[in-house]
Amino acid sequence: MARKPARPATLGDLSVFSGCAHLPLAEAVAGALGVELGKRELERFPDGECHVQILESVRGRDVFVVQPTGPPVEANLLELLLLVDACRRAGSARVTAVIPYFGYARQDRRASGREPVAARLIADLIHAAGVDRVVAVDLHSPALEGCFSVPLEHVTAVPLLAEPLRRLALGGNCVVVAPDLGAARLADRYARLLSLPVAIVHKTRISGREVTTRGVTGNVDGHQPLIVDDMISTGGTIEAAVRALAQAGALPVTAVVATHGLFSGDAAERLAAVGARRVIVTDSVAPPTAIRLPIEVVSIAPMLARAIQNLHENRSLGDVVAHA
Ligand code: R5P
Repeated sequence: MARKPARPATLGDLSVFSGCAHLPLAEAVAGALGVELGKRELERFPDGECHVQILESVRGRDVFVVQPTGPPVEANLLELLLLVDACRRAGSARVTAVIPYFGYARQDRRASGREPVAARLIADLIHAAGVDRVVAVDLHSPALEGCFSVPLEHVTAVPLLAEPLRRLALGGNCVVVAPDLGAARLADRYARLLSLPVAIVHKTRISGREVTTRGVTGNVDGHQPLIVDDMISTGGTIEAAVRALAQAGALPVTAVVATHGLFSGDAAERLAAVGARRVIVTDSVAPPTAIRLPIEVVSIAPMLARAIQNLHENRSLGDVVAHA
């Protein structure tokens, strides 16, 4: 691999750039930091290639590129890589990729034969582009850190998402439900914050859109479930969990909470159809506009801004964000 240009010895002021993935979030982060979003040009050539140009000097600066790699995943990922490369070649002192939602995170192992470990490959591409450090929010699995050969700051939105739940004044018969085994630790974090018990739905994925369940561990009979997950994509996982909980005697679902609300395809309709009327997500990806499901969106912009400020000033992240 060709060597990237050397970094300047000193670290200048901070700059924040973004691709097109989620401009309102990047603007909110920049605003909270009291800076303007860095000027850049991003266009598509007629053959579909993406072209990026940084329109202001970043020489010697501490650059943060805020770009979730949600749908369209490949386009958003490529914008991130090109922005990082452009900043590095323009002489920035350090480049941190702030990736509020990390696409391909679920492909972190070979579930069966003859598959790639896509998450590892994407992490390698980000490294190859010249990133010094990555900030990510509620990754599908904390073990993903092992995919990155640059330092990863894995921060969590769980305490932020727990706030609106507290305001619901949950009754004593509430139970936090992990809709699959992978979400058990996440459910445990919510349960500790809210002083509630945990139950786990046993899920098997059949395809990208369909899942099946094999019962529930934990007492949900007569309880109000609060389903928590790292992400909602097709809604299949939540739909199956709601059905499994009803079969196990649970009351209607109180709320569905997830850090990343992708709402792919007819996810909203699927959730509405099973009676999931209170859905709370963050703005790690652009919230959907035209869906018939009331969604409460909690902004992670202030948290990302504090993380950026602390990283820029070489201060610990411990006092501003809980580690996942
Ligand atoms: C899977 O392990 C994840 O934690 C989520 O449960 C899953 O990716 C959600 O996807 P979908 O909404 O398509 O079921």
